[in-house]
Amino acid sequence: MQRRVVVTGASSGIGAASVRRFAELGWETVAVARRAERLEALAAETGAHTIVCDVTDEGQVAQMAAEVAETGGATGLVNNAGGALGTDSVERSSNDDWRRMFEVNVLGLRSVTAAMLPVLREGARTSGWASILNLTSTAGLDAYPGGGGYNAAKFAAHAVTSVLRLELGGEPIRVMELAPGLVHTEEFTLKRLRGDAEATNRVYADVIPLAAEDVARVLVGAFEQPPHVNQDLIVLRPVAQSSVFHTHRGELAPKAQ
Ligand SMILES: NC(=O)c1ccc[n+]([C@@H]2O[C@H](COP(=O)([O-])OP(=O)(O)OC[C@H]3O[C@@H](n4cnc5c(N)ncnc54)[C@H](OP(=O)(O)O)[C@@H]3O)[C@@H](O)[C@H]2O)c1
Repeated sequence: MQRRVVVTGASSGIGAASVRRFAELGWETVAVARRAERLEALAAETGAHTIVCDVTDEGQVAQMAAEVAETGGATGLVNNAGGALGTDSVERSSNDDWRRMFEVNVLGLRSVTAAMLPVLREGARTSGWASILNLTSTAGLDAYPGGGGYNAAKFAAHAVTSVLRLELGGEPIRVMELAPGLVHTEEFTLKRLRGDAEATNRVYADVIPLAAEDVARVLVGAFEQPPHVNQDLIVLRPVAQSSVFHTHRGELAPKAQ
């Protein structure tokens, strides 16, 4: 089988950039998200096979996995669909927001992984190996005030990734995790801040964040490693961000000696 990878959340940001990067390196790609017109534009550009699917709907996820199997199978899966809602404190945030974050970042990841595992095993049988990579976040490694539901969801996704690696022990399927820090994508912070463009601009003001293409290059690089090499956990931050609490704004300059 050709190298064929399924990327969820492919209609924007890191997911779309990853499909472009995989395609550049000769992978067949399957782009999955809810917005059909965005997927079609990506397909015209990259040749991706597209599947409209809400990863929080188990019926749609089962259909998506069946379509992947029927159209050429898969040797790779990127669980990238996800996002944050709000920056409210634990005290002031709402269970509705938390539920939505948990559904897409954790339950969606679980459903897609469970539905895709038989397809990936088939891919591993014919090609020798298969790969799964989960997009978590530095918010899944360090808590911060206002992180609440997003921290909880990404910590959970981080834990699930480790569980999966243990459970797939003995199979030729590597399980990887990529945890980015500040990435300037078109929609992530805008959605988190409920459409407040000014507040969104402040997040990226006077700082050099990662671009979606930076994350995609590293993400696809992990798939391009020899198949017995498993980059368990890749933490990727902009140089200007030395922790979730330390973001340098202004020019980066060597200290005077
Ligand atoms: N940007 C950052 O600073 C940052 C940092 C660390 C980690 N991350 C993580 O990286 C991933 C991608 O982030 P991004 O910045 O590229 O965000 P983004 O531009 O908002 O992209 C999110 C993608 O997920 C898809 N999606 C959301 N809900 C979905 C659902 N229920 N079913 C299917 N697809 C769904 C969206 O497409 P549709 O709306 O068309 O479905 C979109 O393509 C996320 O998991 C995010 O948590 C982002």
